[in-house]
Amino acid sequence: MTRHFARPVGITATGQYYPERRVTNDDLSMVMATNDEWIRTRTGIGSRHWVEKGQGASDLGVPALQMALDQRGMMADELEVIIVATVTPDTFFPATACRIQDAVGAKNAFGFDLSAACSGFLYALTSGAALVASGAYSKVAVVGVDVMSSIMNMEDRATGVLFGDGAGAVILEPVEEGLGIIDFEHRIDGSGGCILHMPAGGSRKPASHETVDAKEHFIHQSGSEVFKFAVREMAEGSRAMLDRNGFLPADLKLFVPHQANLRIMDAAAKRLELPNDRMVVNIDRYANTTAATIPTALHQAKGEGRMEKGDLVLLSAFGAGLTWGTILLRWAY
Ligand SMILES: CC(C)(COP(=O)(O)OP(=O)(O)OC[C@H]1O[C@@H](n2cnc3c(N)ncnc32)[C@H](O)[C@@H]1OP(=O)(O)O)[C@@H](O)C(=O)NCCC(=O)NCCS
Repeated sequence: MTRHFARPVGITATGQYYPERRVTNDDLSMVMATNDEWIRTRTGIGSRHWVEKGQGASDLGVPALQMALDQRGMMADELEVIIVATVTPDTFFPATACRIQDAVGAKNAFGFDLSAACSGFLYALTSGAALVASGAYSKVAVVGVDVMSSIMNMEDRATGVLFGDGAGAVILEPVEEGLGIIDFEHRIDGSGGCILHMPAGGSRKPASHETVDAKEHFIHQSGSEVFKFAVREMAEGSRAMLDRNGFLPADLKLFVPHQANLRIMDAAAKRLELPNDRMVVNIDRYANTTAATIPTALHQAKGEGRMEKGDLVLLSAFGAGLTWGTILLRWAY
């Protein structure tokens, strides 16, 4: 069974933003017991960008969305919806979508935040596209943004090297028949929640001196469990998506996987038997920016001339929840 929208919906513009401060592996080796060689060979990461103290998710999301609007030649007040995928919002409330709406001047929009960790951008893309396909809306912005440096324990070298901060944004609109999103599949499995989570700070365990002392406001993960789940779901989900639409891996112009670990991405590409030059990689320069990895990768691939109107593109992500998903589309411009 395939899933498709009653009206064709596609991405019509992209934007991105990374904070200025670039942190190399050598920089990290000054503050924790790690080194460039370990990080590169185990993860594929060479550097990442981190915010300065006081910067929040909206400070990254606003310029990313503005870039997408400018690229499309669209005024902010034309936007009808802003969906922000993030697990590191400026505050629990108001939503980061409200801050971004106000800062860009999207005075006719409604919006909300969506929490699905590293799968967040794909969930938001499908949700936004469904609003367009319903016929009720025709100009929707989807922003994937995370400030992972705000929830990283720099005393934990197994997580402290993995993440970066960044934002990507896209505009969704009705597109011509045969273009845009072809099919999608999303899943959650809450039984695996404990292998990647932030234990405190929510209603179950509000912030207290004890939770701060126990470092429960940081990312906790079982790296090897996440690794196995990621390789399995990314490869199987991607293959199933191609099979059920009658495509072969060689039909793909680009495979745009979530950028968590280059070894996970390579393993998925290998199981897919994907030709070498078809995978988009930005983890080497930006690390894992959670909800921002896929929209920034799309922005960069388009900017580098790696995809044209009509090209077949496969997006695939996994993350905390557990969450995962795959979207197949034909690039619309
Ligand atoms: C975290 C991850 C990179 C660890 O890689 P790994 O090859 O599984 O490494 P291990 O955990 O087996 O650790 C191997 C050794 O390296 C050490 N090590 C861990 N982090 C290190 C670092 N930054 N620098 C140097 N050594 C490190 C470990 O302590 C361990 O040492 P030991 O054998 O003396 O105990 C890998 O499991 C991973 O990427 N998992 C997925 C995580 C992820 O993507 N999370 C986000 C999902 S959206």
